[in-house]
Amino acid sequence: MAVTLRTLQQCKLDGKKFSVLTAYDATFSHQISSAGIDVMLIGDSLGMVLQGHDSTLPVTTADIAYHTAAVARGNQGALIMADLPFMTAATPERALDAAHTLMAAGANMVKLEGAGWLADTIGILKRNGVPVCAHLGLTPQSVNAFGGYRVQGREADAAKKMIADAKALEAAGADVLLLECVPRAVTAELVAAVGIPVIGIGAGPECDGQVLVMHDMLGVTVGKTARFVKNFMDGQDNINAAFKAYDEAVKSGNFPASEHCF
Ligand code: KIV
Repeated sequence: MAVTLRTLQQCKLDGKKFSVLTAYDATFSHQISSAGIDVMLIGDSLGMVLQGHDSTLPVTTADIAYHTAAVARGNQGALIMADLPFMTAATPERALDAAHTLMAAGANMVKLEGAGWLADTIGILKRNGVPVCAHLGLTPQSVNAFGGYRVQGREADAAKKMIADAKALEAAGADVLLLECVPRAVTAELVAAVGIPVIGIGAGPECDGQVLVMHDMLGVTVGKTARFVKNFMDGQDNINAAFKAYDEAVKSGNFPASEHCF
């Protein structure tokens, strides 16, 4: 049975965890979705892991659409989420155009980075039948504004604002939230404050779902590995087994462990 938005909502209601992994091409899409991973994210991380940039900023809507179409061709039933690249959510019109392109390429949902100010844009996307995931915390498209890739929400005021933003985005119609690099205690409070599924990366086991960048969880990394990454190729003979091990670890609550959290 294909995974849909309703599947994720039901997971939240039943207290079941779901797994998310980035995917960028048809072959890996086939492997990842056959392994039981629930959601495949065509992330703008492709700018770093595929294109070799040092940030996600150069990625275009055409890049994400190209990879979304490839992932859709290999998909064996996962839900496909595609990233709105840098600046495409600057105005509701630009967000609508980009979301149109990505949904036409095969996405089932779009993800956009930002905070409470995205409420209007989310409302317009929803009215046009586009399910939305809102990405909070360390939003890599704002790396220059943050002065680096840093954990977000460590100070009490910042944590309070993040939780208020999460509630505002839910009220605006966001279907899912994604939290990146957020202290575990803040995540726990935020997850309890909203009724929609929350996906985490470096945000702790309290999230309803977990996501990693595929290259990171296969141990194919250049440079320093982030604290929240686990190499699921360790102890496995092949990539398919690593995808299954990740899926099992997320769904059983074994990943992330405390050493992956802030
Ligand atoms: O672009 C991406 O792959 C992402 C994940 C890191 C969540 O946004």
